[in-house]
Amino acid sequence: MSTTILIYNQNDMKIGSTPEFYTGAPVDPVDLRFRGAFVANLWRTLRSGHVVLAAPRRTGKTSVMDYLRDHPENGFRVVSINVQDLTHPADFFQVLLDAFHDAHPEFVRDRLAEGWGLVSGVLDRVESIGAGGFKLAIRGSDPDWRTNWRRHGDTFLAQARNAGDPILFIIDEFPDMLINLAREDKGLLREFLAWFRTQRQNPAPTRDSIRWLVGGSVNLAGTLDALGLVDLINDLEDVSLPPLTEEHIETFVADMLGGRSVPFDADVPRRLIARLGRPIPFFMQIATRDLYRRWKRGQRRIAATDVDAVFNEMIVGSAARTQLQHYYSRIRQYYAEPKRSIAHALLGQISVSESGLRRETLLHETERALADLCATLPAHQRRQLFNQLMFDLENDFYIVEVEGGTCDFASGVLKSWWRKYHA
Ligand SMILES: Nc1ncnc2c1ncn2[C@@H]1O[C@H](COP(=O)(O)OP(=O)(O)OP(=O)(O)O)[C@@H](O)[C@H]1O
Ligand SMILES: [Mg+2]
Repeated sequence: MSTTILIYNQNDMKIGSTPEFYTGAPVDPVDLRFRGAFVANLWRTLRSGHVVLAAPRRTGKTSVMDYLRDHPENGFRVVSINVQDLTHPADFFQVLLDAFHDAHPEFVRDRLAEGWGLVSGVLDRVESIGAGGFKLAIRGSDPDWRTNWRRHGDTFLAQARNAGDPILFIIDEFPDMLINLAREDKGLLREFLAWFRTQRQNPAPTRDSIRWLVGGSVNLAGTLDALGLVDLINDLEDVSLPPLTEEHIETFVADMLGGRSVPFDADVPRRLIARLGRPIPFFMQIATRDLYRRWKRGQRRIAATDVDAVFNEMIVGSAARTQLQHYYSRIRQYYAEPKRSIAHALLGQISVSESGLRRETLLHETERALADLCATLPAHQRRQLFNQLMFDLENDFYIVEVEGGTCDFASGVLKSWWRKYHA
């Protein structure tokens, strides 16, 4: 619920009142802040090419995608889908078509479906099928969809191009779908990626009215590299969602508390910044919300010690735990042995360090973990494995190099949590 106090947003997106706290769902486009420059930049990049948007979990990718969908620029029609659970290219096209129909029903009926029997036949019947019927009817329109996915995909995009308007397809959690495909059938993944690449290159983006923005929290290049397929996506422009700056966080805390008339000491935002480490916006929201709740309970001025209390509670609280658990499980899911055990060993060690560990120390730790696993590798292979693992851990947003050869957890919240549960 929004309060009625007007605040001024220094960050280029219009808001009229103190936004609500978002602690899980994507930020509603009307409340999105701090992303104005990024969004403008993204539209600029999309003028000339297709984009892959990567960022760690819970940092605001979907919020930005929803904003693009609701505030299209340059005449784009936007169609946005989440493909996390899809396991076949046929499902991909069906979901995309369904979302297209939901977002732009007249356009689909009058332009996209024009002369395309598969869809126009369904549209003739869809009135009688009722809400939600379109997707089912599309699925039923060809009993051999799974065999014919490529033909239908080709026709879909040809129709979309002929329809005239620029179209932006936003595909959220794309790497997850690729991992699902690989699990079902690696050959199918390769075929799909090859098809998708051809579609992105013929016609060349500058002559194409279609743009793709794919994104996800799993590192796409890393995922495909492990499968030997990274060459099939290297034409995509890599855009990373910039972390919120200290200034953003200060503004956020001041506005969210100040906007609710919560008095707080001047060092509160600084303390919050220090405890966050790499600012994962989700944790910033939870911490600020919990400060607000503390104030509501006690009605006394919020101090830096309250920030510490809130962070300590957050690490054991259920909302954060669900998110944090993902970081732990991911390693089990996606890192093959011996990397899995070594990653857990290294992160455990880093979590109990004051401010990170030196690379030599971590290499030494790796060798010890390998010995525990009874893995006998020559020295150069041990080092290679170590370098690869450090690269993965950095790419997957677990660690950062803080200064000359010292590595620490990127997120302060994750570090404290790891220390408590997994060290
Ligand atoms: N611009 C922002 N300002 C403040 N908080 C934000 C912002 N963007 C995201 N958040 C916070 O991050 C949370 C997650 O946002 P969102 O779902 O967009 O992230 P995501 O990167 O898509 O997450 P996931 O990796 O789980 O898909 C929101 O619930 C909110 O707490
Ligand atoms: Mg998301």
